[in-house]
Amino acid sequence: MASGGDASVNLEDVPSLNLMTELLRRMKCASKPDKRLILIGPPGSGKGTQSPIIKDEYCLCHLATGDMLRAAVATKTPLGVKAKEAMEKGELVSDDLVVGIIDDAIKKPSCQKGFILDGFPRTVVQAEKLDDMLAKQGTKIDKVLNFSIDDAILEERITGRWIHPSSGRTYHSKFAPPKVPGVDDVTGEPLIQRKDDTAAVLKSRLEAFHRQTEPVVDYYSKKGAVTNLHADKPTEEVTKEVKMVLS
Ligand code: AP5
Repeated sequence: MASGGDASVNLEDVPSLNLMTELLRRMKCASKPDKRLILIGPPGSGKGTQSPIIKDEYCLCHLATGDMLRAAVATKTPLGVKAKEAMEKGELVSDDLVVGIIDDAIKKPSCQKGFILDGFPRTVVQAEKLDDMLAKQGTKIDKVLNFSIDDAILEERITGRWIHPSSGRTYHSKFAPPKVPGVDDVTGEPLIQRKDDTAAVLKSRLEAFHRQTEPVVDYYSKKGAVTNLHADKPTEEVTKEVKMVLS
């Protein structure tokens, strides 16, 4: 039972349906193989769209460094204060800041069956530090999914994206519109657009991707871990490819 200052939940207060749903989920997950995945690709290539589907299918945790950093900026934590300026300009945040948040996050119980890293590692230094972290735990990356796509397609995807901030649900005004424009389908709450989702900031983000992140694909290719996806296809077709690669 929860006591003063204890953040744990009193199970008696949890509705039976929720408990049963969680129990069934855990039973289903017990038979799933562990997986440690990296999703790599330029802004708008579909990493955040495919991650929740992979997460549910394989019972993994979804660690998106961009989401973690945006949460830190919104709540003005010391991490957020340091990250804000670089993020608004479309530049990368320092390696030490992001490595620290991942090191903490992968130890959480929800990552027990493995994880999806979305937006990390983004430099070869981050990849080397990640591999060291995993080696200490006696594990390694199983697969790197490389979301291959031409830059020319990305501006339309990025500038049309709408987000429900509290759930992370993503929409697109043309490719995945909400039932009512500007409103989340599930909660009815307003959708927002990210500050860095402009054509001008996209240019810097793409420049950072090609210069700093593409070498990470080469780094893992040498280890035989990379599979290329046709990320320019419609969402459902990309999902099919992902499932085939992971089966
Ligand atoms: P981050 O949040 O990671 O942004 P990003 O990598 O630029 O990726 P996005 O979230 O923009 O794209 P996505 O591939 O997830 O696209 P989505 O699926 O939503 O990083 C933001 C910033 O944080 C960085 O610039 C940096 O400053 C900092 N940062 C983060 N990690 C860092 C790190 N490791 N090191 C240093 N700094 C770091 O899709 C986009 C849109 O297209 C959606 O509207 C979607 O509905 C639509 N869509 C998706 N797939 C399809 C499809 N197949 N067909 C048609 N439409 C589609």
